[in-house]
Amino acid sequence: MSLYVWGTGCGAGELIERGFEPARITAFVESVPESRSFLGRKVIAPEEIDASDCELIIVSTRYTKEVMELCRSLGIAVEKLFFLKNSCTLIDLNEKSVAPQVLGDELYSRLKPRHRLIKEPESLTGKTADSGDYIRLAQLELICGRLCHVPGAAAELGVFRGDFARHINRLLPERKLYLFDSFQGFEEKSGAGEAFQAAHENTSIAAVIKKLPHPDKVEICPGFFPASLKGLEERFCLVSLDVDFYDATLEGLRYFWPRLNEGGYLLLHDWGSVRLSGVAKALETYEKEQGKPLPAVPLCDIGASLILVKN
Ligand SMILES: C[S@@+](CC[C@H](N)C(=O)[O-])C[C@H]1O[C@@H](n2cnc3c(N)ncnc32)[C@H](O)[C@@H]1O
Repeated sequence: MSLYVWGTGCGAGELIERGFEPARITAFVESVPESRSFLGRKVIAPEEIDASDCELIIVSTRYTKEVMELCRSLGIAVEKLFFLKNSCTLIDLNEKSVAPQVLGDELYSRLKPRHRLIKEPESLTGKTADSGDYIRLAQLELICGRLCHVPGAAAELGVFRGDFARHINRLLPERKLYLFDSFQGFEEKSGAGEAFQAAHENTSIAAVIKKLPHPDKVEICPGFFPASLKGLEERFCLVSLDVDFYDATLEGLRYFWPRLNEGGYLLLHDWGSVRLSGVAKALETYEKEQGKPLPAVPLCDIGASLILVKN
């Protein structure tokens, strides 16, 4: 059976650097072969692949869609493709690949794409705007993966129905999670407006708890923040701040930022929102109080979040 590597660029070179024996390669494939040899192996055009004898094609280029279409037209099943570059699509190109069986577990885990697709199928169903925000959730997953050396609890201020909180609870199953919300919408002074307020009233503590995979780790702190703190003294590794308006956001920053441990993250939802402009204004005010800008990375999620990084 034949094993091909599609592409003769850096991706193919990296494959060899990562421990793949060139001797295992029947041929490299290039849409338009400029040279007939690469790393001591022959280079062929796609039409020269023997589809009936092909066991696996490792695709090292970024042109995944084009390769997939070409292979389909050549009668090569998608299961026989193993994409090394799979970072910018919501489809897991390797879902059905036979690569783990052909290469063996050890080699497969060395070669598989470093930038994997974050998988949480339930979160991609778009049940709500937030649970369907792939970038926000993927970012949370990556951040949580970096928190193993950062001590402290997690917290969310602005929980609503717990759609984001349940992901924090899922991704940090060992951490205590504080959930702050009035569970009755916004303070009058927030200027939320009738419709916005009405839209946020329909929730309850029981409904939130029901959604959480590890409710034993959760402390619900009901009431308007900051009164709901009731003197809580705690240190944090991760804080999600999502209260939509100026006053509550500013109070959240004043409480949580000094208590965030080094290496921890504060996710400020709606920072870039035109409609909820009080969020960015609150950050501006807080930065003035601190006398310096906070280290931050803007995110291209639906809510235009900003990630503050404690150093
Ligand atoms: C946009 S929702 C949060 C959504 C949630 N983070 C998610 O992604 O699923 C905003 C929430 O902030 C809460 N909130 C706003 N101001 C608050 C305050 N001062 N104290 C407590 N909760 C507040 C509201 O009750 C509302 O449930």
